[in-house]
Formats: sequence, C-alpha cells, structure tokens
Amino acid sequence: MSVAKGDRGDPAEKERLEALLQESRRFPPPAAMRAAANAGDPKVYDAAARDLEGFWAEQAEALDWFKPWDKVLDWQSPWAKWFVGGQTNICHNCVDRHAASARRNKAAIIWEGEPGDQRILTYGQLQREVARFANGLKRLGVAKGDRVAIYLGMVPELAIAMLACARIGAPHSIVFGGFSADALADRINDAQAKVLVTADGAWRRGGVVPLKANADAALRACPTISKVVVVERVGAAAQAEMQAGRDITWEETVAGVSADCPCEKMDAEDMLFILYTSGTTGKPKGIVHTTGGYMTGVSTTHRLIFDIKDTDVYWCTADIGWVTGHSYIVYGPLANGATSLMYEGSPDHPDRGRFWSICEKYGVNILYTAPTSIRTFMRWGTDWPKRYDLSSLRLLGSVGEPINPEAWMWYHEHIGAGRCPIVDTWWQTETGMILITPLPALTTTKPGSATRPFPGIEAQVLDERGDPVGPGAGGYLVLTRPWPAMMRTIYGDSERYVRQYWSRYPGKYFTGDGAKVDEDGDFWLLGRVDDVMNVSGHRISTYEVESALVDHPGVAEAAVIGRTHDVKGQAIAAFVTLKEATKGSDALKGELREHVAHKIGPIARPDDIYFAAELPKTRSAKIMRRLLRDIAEGRALGDTTTLADPSVVQRLKEQYEEKEDA
Ligand code: PRX
Repeated sequence: MSVAKGDRGDPAEKERLEALLQESRRFPPPAAMRAAANAGDPKVYDAAARDLEGFWAEQAEALDWFKPWDKVLDWQSPWAKWFVGGQTNICHNCVDRHAASARRNKAAIIWEGEPGDQRILTYGQLQREVARFANGLKRLGVAKGDRVAIYLGMVPELAIAMLACARIGAPHSIVFGGFSADALADRINDAQAKVLVTADGAWRRGGVVPLKANADAALRACPTISKVVVVERVGAAAQAEMQAGRDITWEETVAGVSADCPCEKMDAEDMLFILYTSGTTGKPKGIVHTTGGYMTGVSTTHRLIFDIKDTDVYWCTADIGWVTGHSYIVYGPLANGATSLMYEGSPDHPDRGRFWSICEKYGVNILYTAPTSIRTFMRWGTDWPKRYDLSSLRLLGSVGEPINPEAWMWYHEHIGAGRCPIVDTWWQTETGMILITPLPALTTTKPGSATRPFPGIEAQVLDERGDPVGPGAGGYLVLTRPWPAMMRTIYGDSERYVRQYWSRYPGKYFTGDGAKVDEDGDFWLLGRVDDVMNVSGHRISTYEVESALVDHPGVAEAAVIGRTHDVKGQAIAAFVTLKEATKGSDALKGELREHVAHKIGPIARPDDIYFAAELPKTRSAKIMRRLLRDIAEGRALGDTTTLADPSVVQRLKEQYEEKEDA
C-alpha cells in the first residue's frame, strides 16, 4: 500500500495540497439560522463525546420501537451491536408513523421522470403502495430473511420495493442500474437472492437502458432466483421478453392483494440490506447494514446536517443504487417525515438547465449533490443556473469525493447566491451515515474541508506506525469509536471484514482514505490511499478493471490507475500488454474500452488505453502504479530505483511523449 496521496512524492500533488491548506477563506454560519436550527447549540459535541451511548439513545428515542432496547451498545471490537434487545421496523418509521399523523397528506416522494412526467406520493399513498407490494412479495414466496435483489432505474417503484422489503424483513440488495449483466449476476449470487425486481428498461438521455435484457443475461447464471418482478417503465421500446413461469409484471404482482400488511417486528441487529462496493482486491464486498443503528444514524445525521424542516423540499441527486441514495434519498429523509425529491434522468437532458429547472419547479430548499456534477456545471457556465429562480435554496451539500476549493466557491456563489451554507459530507458505504461534516448553523466552513467529525464520532490521522500526525501532515484517516450505522460485517466473509478494516491499526476502523488535520482541527480529505479509484464519485477498484481487461483474449496483462481529471476527479487509465499474436491499434483500444463497459458497466469504461511492451515492476514483481500515474499525468518520473528494470518505464514514457509531440 502506498502512503497517503499527499505524500506520494508527486511534486504537483504536493503543491496542490500545500495550496489547499493555505486556503484562508472562511464562511461563518449564517447568524439567522442558529435560533431555529436543528443543531444550534455547540455543546452537542461535548455532550456526545462525554456520553456516547446517552447521545445515541436520545436520538433513537425520537423513533418508534415495538420493544425498547436493553442495552444501547455492545462493543466487542470489531463487532458492534446497537440497541440490543430492541425491536422496530424502519419501514414503520419511514412510512406508517407519518401516514398515521398529520403528515398523512404530505408529499413523501416527489418524482420527476426523465421525459418530464411526474408522480407525487404522499405518506398515505406511499404506505398503501409499499404494503401492497410487500404483500405481493410474500405471495411470490418471499419470507423474512430472504434476500431480494433490485435492479432498477430511478423510478418510484425502487423506493417502494426497498421499503416493502424492509417491511417484511427481507434484506434488499440494490444493484445500480448502470451495472452490466455480469456485475449483476455476481451480486445476486453472492447474496443468494431469491427474487429480482427489475424493469423492462430505464430512460437515459432519451435512450433506453435494457435492464430486462441485462437481467435475463445475468439470470442464466443465477440459480437462486425463482421469480422476477418487472416494472413496465419504457414499454415497447425496451423489447423486453417475459419468461413464462418466472417473470411477472409489477401490476400482476400487486393485483388483488390487500393493502394491509403489518410491519414485521425486527430485532435491532437484524439485517436491513446488503450493498456491494469495490475493495482493493477480489470481488465486490457485500456491506451489511442492520436495522436499529442504521435507522438511528441516518435519521439523526439527516436531521442535524441538513437542518430539515417540515416545510422543506429536499433533493439528493444521487442514484438509489449507491449508499448516498439509500441513506439520504430514502431512509434518512423519510424517517424524518421529509419531502424527498427523486429525479430519474441526467443533468443535461433535455438541456443543461435541467437541475435548475427542477429546483425552480418544486421550490427545492436543500440540494445535495457531488463535486463532479458541480465541476460539470462550472464548465457549462453560469448562464444555465441564471435562467432559473433558485431563491428557494437555503442549504447545499456535497458528497462522494474531495471538493476542490474552486468548485466549492462556484457552488457557493452561483447556486447558493452566497447565502447558503455548504455541508461537505465525508462518509462511505461502510459507514452508512455521514461522519465528517459541518453542522450548518454551527460550523465555520472552509472551501475544500469537510471540517469536523459529527457529534459522537472520533477520527484521527495516523502515520505508518499508528501514531497521530501533527497539524498539516498527511496520514491515514481512522475512526476510533463505534457509531450506530457502521457496517456490521461483509456478507459471507467476516474474516475479510476484520482484515480489511480492523487489522491495520488494531481496534481502529481503517477508512482507506488519506487526510490532514489543520491547526483548527478541521479535516481535509485527500482521496483513497489504496487501489480504489473515485471516478465521478463512483468507487471502482483498479483490480476489477484489470480483471475485465485480461478477460479479453488479446490481453496478456493490465495495470490500471486513476489519473487526475478536471471534471471526473479521476479518470481511468489502463496500461495493457498484449499477447504476441495481437497487434495494438486504435480499433483494439475501442474494443477493450467496450469490453470493460460490457463486463462491469459504462462507469468503468477506461478513458485511456496505453499499449506497453512491458509493465514496470519491482523486483518482487509488484506493478509500480505510481510511475504509471506519472506517465498518464505527463509528469517527470518519480523514484525508479526499486524497479527490476528501470528502462521499462523510461521506454514507456518516451513512447507516450513522442506520441504527444507528434
Ligand atoms: O474516498 C472517500 C470518498 O468516497 C469514498 C466512499 O465511497 P462510497 O463508499 O462509494 O460512498 C460514497 C458516498 C458516501 C470515501 O472513502 N468520499 C466520499 N465523500 C467524500 C469523499 N472524499 C472526500 N470528501 C468527501 N466529502
């Protein structure tokens, strides 16, 4: 494993980080916000630090429990149990308790379809839809504990299906609709899912993503799936085929079922969902989240960080296929009885003003999006947002990757009109909930810094030996106390859970991220320190892309790196050695790019393919990615003394410099 990015020895990177820490702009929280803020008293930090269990118990008490817990936390590091003995149901907390209150006719989900169609589900309507689909699933044979795979675009049925699963205690495993058939099959098989919920297709920029055809291809290798529920979203254009006996439409699934389906009593530690994410090696890991702690963690963070009020329209632009959508489109906001907006399409369809037109149309108050989108909007220019009335916005959020100060400032000025606080929220699929973030009425923000650990969270930056580094020095970000929404294990692989997260620094959770802390105690995230790339906020491991490349018959070996990219954060560059009989050509580059897109999904399609006679390796045959990064980013080569044959990388560099000069 290499050292934190900042200390990799790249002069350009060093310069960037030094500039970052000299960032002197300060944005105090708006004074007017404090009095009415959900988190308006700075004492919350001390109180939570002093009495961690008391703090979380108080948060959990704001939710409904069928049976109170006996013990807040049972912590046998690295095994956590929260709210031990308690019984609840997150669907009850997200849907039923609001449907039974004055919020019954309040919009729970506002859905904007890509072609401009719209659907609004009140809490009352959502309850009916969820209960009916839950009964539909039961009729298909789904029982408590059975896993249900969900492979859908951003349609309301996605939220309905996940809540229905939670209602009957069937853990869901949602697979992002942009993943390929192979990726879907791997995930279904790892989770041993019984039922798949998918759609005929999904709209994407006016075109159709053939979800059902992908699912059909995947299911040839998925023996555990007995039934497939198909949402009819795009109709004839999808050319989806139904397989008799196995496939059933959504309409048929709910036809004639009752809307009466009591919420299953779930133990706090019963599994709520599995969500797959990329690790350094091996197949994607199934991150396991459980019921009571997750529910408490996401509702608390959503309420305090986004300062959600009953009158707000809240919009998180993520896809529910990722953890951001799980925690902050569905579970967090709905647990808080909020109105959560869900958008099916992309930011540039039908034009580049789409996000701003949606903000205007629904009077969005809180917007939560990703730095890569912000950088894209910057490139498109300020005329687009200027055409729309964005005066309803009062709070902005950022997530998924470090936000560079320029993007932060642009967001602040051109979207927030200088008046909206920005919460830059750091967290992971594994953490379940936001862990490092400003609180909007309390924290003075700095462009590019995620600022401070959330109340009750303790983070440290350590050096190789495990000692905390001083202010300004780079190191590894770790978390030293448990939190309720933390992952409980890797599905089917507890040993990997321990090894991956708890072994590097025993007793501490290893995040895989590099960070620095400044003199004020504010955290600056530096990106991954392992072989995981962050491409447009999507987590992709170099290993997965390499495996997809060597799966091509012409490829002998491949090394993949993430190179710095202005808009995407990182772009995928692949160095490929070909088998002797294969000749490198532009056509082959195109073929390899498509091969990866086909094996994993379009998000993993490499931006650059370099053909190399050999790959630079150390004497112990480890590929030196750092040097490949130097080449891909057009920099002078760093230290090459540990290479088995330094001339390999020199030749490679010359080869690509010549090409660029030509
Ligand atoms: O490297 C960090 C980056 O995204 C990783 C987690 O990715 P994933 O599990 O897909 O979850 C993404 C959404 C929570 C982290 O290890 N990351 C996420 N948020 C930030 C971030 N890096 C810097 N600043 C952030 N705000």
